[in-house]
Amino acid sequence: MKRLSILGSTGSIGMQALDVVRARPEAFQVVAMAAGGQLDLLTEQVREFRPQLVSMGRREGARELEERLRGFPVKICYGAEGLAEVAAYSETELILLAVVGAAGLVPALTAIRAGKDVALATKEALVMAGALLTSEAAARGVRLLPVDSEHSAIFQCLEGGGRDALKRIILTASGGALRHVPKARLASVTPEEALNHPTWNMGKKITIDSATLMNKGLEVIEARWLFDIDVKHVDVIIHPQSIVHSLIEYVDGSVLAQLSPPDMRLPILYALGYPARFEHAFPTLDLVRVASLTFESIDRERFPCLGFAYQAVEMGGTAPAVLNAANEVAVELFLAREITFGQIPEVIEAGLGEHRPGDGGSLEEILAADREVREHLSRTYRGKGTHIS
Ligand SMILES: NC(=O)c1ccc[n+]([C@@H]2O[C@H](COP(=O)([O-])OP(=O)(O)OC[C@H]3O[C@@H](n4cnc5c(N)ncnc54)[C@H](OP(=O)(O)O)[C@@H]3O)[C@@H](O)[C@H]2O)c1
Repeated sequence: MKRLSILGSTGSIGMQALDVVRARPEAFQVVAMAAGGQLDLLTEQVREFRPQLVSMGRREGARELEERLRGFPVKICYGAEGLAEVAAYSETELILLAVVGAAGLVPALTAIRAGKDVALATKEALVMAGALLTSEAAARGVRLLPVDSEHSAIFQCLEGGGRDALKRIILTASGGALRHVPKARLASVTPEEALNHPTWNMGKKITIDSATLMNKGLEVIEARWLFDIDVKHVDVIIHPQSIVHSLIEYVDGSVLAQLSPPDMRLPILYALGYPARFEHAFPTLDLVRVASLTFESIDRERFPCLGFAYQAVEMGGTAPAVLNAANEVAVELFLAREITFGQIPEVIEAGLGEHRPGDGGSLEEILAADREVREHLSRTYRGKGTHIS
């Protein structure tokens, strides 16, 4: 029985992870959970999974939760400290980090410093502080297990073939909701259009990131750190069916791929169960029904955000943290209809352009860079654009 803490239990990944636990109750036990503001759902989850420790985003929420769970054997905490307490909980063997965005960085570091293996969905943490997190993990013998389907695929391929003769990694991208939207109309698509993802049902932030392809940019940086590879050797191609989750190529030209239906419960199960593989009743692959797998190159002009990710890695130090913060601000503004879809790259470029990268060696420096760019971009863009209906 593996004892788990799930950070972000009320989100898309968190709920699918709980589905995995439901499917294999003899293999996994949830001992701690953390969520933001979804009180009703968290209350239900606590009643069903009976964790010993729970954290909510805010104090008022935690009080209300306490009220609802009166007499229940659970400790309730809140805020950033609560999140850290769940991340370092002594009864936990494996942390599933699935809070969205920069809020995941401190809990990631806290879990690693507490010597806990981390199943990592929150790619933003690794983008912001890849050097710090991977060096701390290596120093403590902590495993960072990928949850992203692409990185799970690469991880599984490398388990099979080893990495000595690895030449390159090829990440696949579905192309997001706007793959067929004519370039001339792209700048003015609505949040509803951009949120309508063809193959994956995910949280709002990552769905917009998929539409801009910034998600793939963040994944290039994630791959750089998870697999210790120069981004020169990380390529991206479009694969609309989301069946081939990624590929690796060896120096002799041999290519290995991992395939499965587009269902996040599968990479989640692999990360939670690693190194064991578990049978399950989730849908499995029927290649005859899929019938055709297609691949296309990416139009980098149409999707400039991907290029910004490579640029940020080139700049080094705190630049990837700035890229991440600028993107989070841009997505928030777009969802609030304060900027157009076409302005998302402009906001990110402005963030990166203004930034003088520090070496990014410490958490404090990374968090300061994150804060600065958010303040700067909010001042420049918030409440300034035409309100878009
Ligand atoms: N969804 C996918 O299929 C998918 C695939 C690959 C990778 N990922 C990555 O996984 C992460 C989560 O994505 P998602 O789609 O699951 O996001 P989501 O549906 O928006 O869920 C985010 C979760 O984080 C919680 N949260 C947010 N801020 C918090 C805070 N300050 N303190 C505590 N909890 C907080 C939310 O709580 P409340 O809802 O209660 O406020 C929710 O449980 C992202 O980094 C994403 O890139 C997601």
